[in-house]
Amino acid sequence: MNTPSLSTTPPERAAILAALDAVADPKSGLGLTAAGLVRGLVIRGGRVAFMLEVPAADTGLYASVRDAAERALAAVAGVEAAQVVLTAETTAPQLKVSPRRAARVQEDPQARLSPMAEAVRPAFVGKVIAIASGKGGVGKSTVAVNLAAAFVHLGLKAGLLDADIYGPSAPHMMGIKDEPEFDAEKRLIPLLAWGVKVMSIGFIVEDGAANIWRGPMASSALRTLINSVWGTREDPLDVLVIDLPPGTGDIQLTLVQRLQLDGVVIVSTPQEIALIDARRAATMFRKTGASILGVVENMAWFADPATGARIPIFGEGGAAREAQALGAPLLGQIPIEVALRQSGDEGAPLVATAPESAAAQVFIEMARRLA
Ligand SMILES: Nc1ncnc2c1ncn2[C@@H]1O[C@H](COP(=O)(O)OP(=O)(O)OP(=O)(O)O)[C@@H](O)[C@H]1O
Ligand SMILES: [Mg+2]
Repeated sequence: MNTPSLSTTPPERAAILAALDAVADPKSGLGLTAAGLVRGLVIRGGRVAFMLEVPAADTGLYASVRDAAERALAAVAGVEAAQVVLTAETTAPQLKVSPRRAARVQEDPQARLSPMAEAVRPAFVGKVIAIASGKGGVGKSTVAVNLAAAFVHLGLKAGLLDADIYGPSAPHMMGIKDEPEFDAEKRLIPLLAWGVKVMSIGFIVEDGAANIWRGPMASSALRTLINSVWGTREDPLDVLVIDLPPGTGDIQLTLVQRLQLDGVVIVSTPQEIALIDARRAATMFRKTGASILGVVENMAWFADPATGARIPIFGEGGAAREAQALGAPLLGQIPIEVALRQSGDEGAPLVATAPESAAAQVFIEMARRLA
């Protein structure tokens, strides 16, 4: 499929754009180029990459488009390797922030949103770490899943709580088909996958049920997740990783305020827009009193398939600068890695299946720093 070209001439930009225009955008019916969906096109020698940015709700619809675009690129003369990164276009959908809270957040930057009285902590859990992002589609769930698997790799007892009401992904990414059961005290028992105890909002609410977070059911759904049997006195959990919904709306605030977190890890891609959103998220979480444990730069570079050299197709150094500005460490830089995407699609975390791979090693090192 991806036959190396005999010529050493790099592919023509026009040929690439034409090839991508032959792939139809399912929404507009236009070609991808005409539809304005080809962003950040980079051509380095025979390597081509671009960002396919689509509305957050459409990422599922566009997965096959991404695959078709990669095939179309691979067929262009001179292309040796093609990589299309599918990502969400803007910050995640957000429910309206209540005017009072918005005023506190926006008008008084010094205001601290004190943790709510009802802040809870799951029983018999050592550490609670939330994974957050300002922008959607930056790889937050990929980080959450692989970080949890990395804690297990280090010999710790780890859990994963998927609280992303917009798109719960832990069941899929961890390859879970079963439904959790209750114990004698009517508490949910997390499901064990790849050594990780997993609970997901996807197990207890229907798809797209974001509305429930407006009402009293919000607290009860969250309480159900937190009060799952994560650990017991005899068998405590060392660390619980929480996959938060992307963005900085009321929901994210509420979640963080209701949970006694040890800290938040912010995930960002290297692009300016993602970094700006990352800073916004960090600022918001700090106002709730949560500490920022560090920044993870995902899709940091694309490794040259021939030499392994790092090609920073979406910019370089941005996350390191942002972390420094936040006074938090840069916890790790994860390359764009097809195997990482496939592992998510196949429900088998890369850290569990190929711990020696370069991307998995980044997660393991990150887990070491956070443990
Ligand atoms: N380093 C990477 N290399 C290649 N593909 C990646 C990488 N990180 C994430 N992806 C892919 O990008 C897509 C988005 O990742 P993921 O679902 O983890 O993001 P997210 O931030 O959780 O998204 P959402 O905001 O929708 O919850 C997925 O298809 C995932 O497999
Ligand atoms: Mg996610």
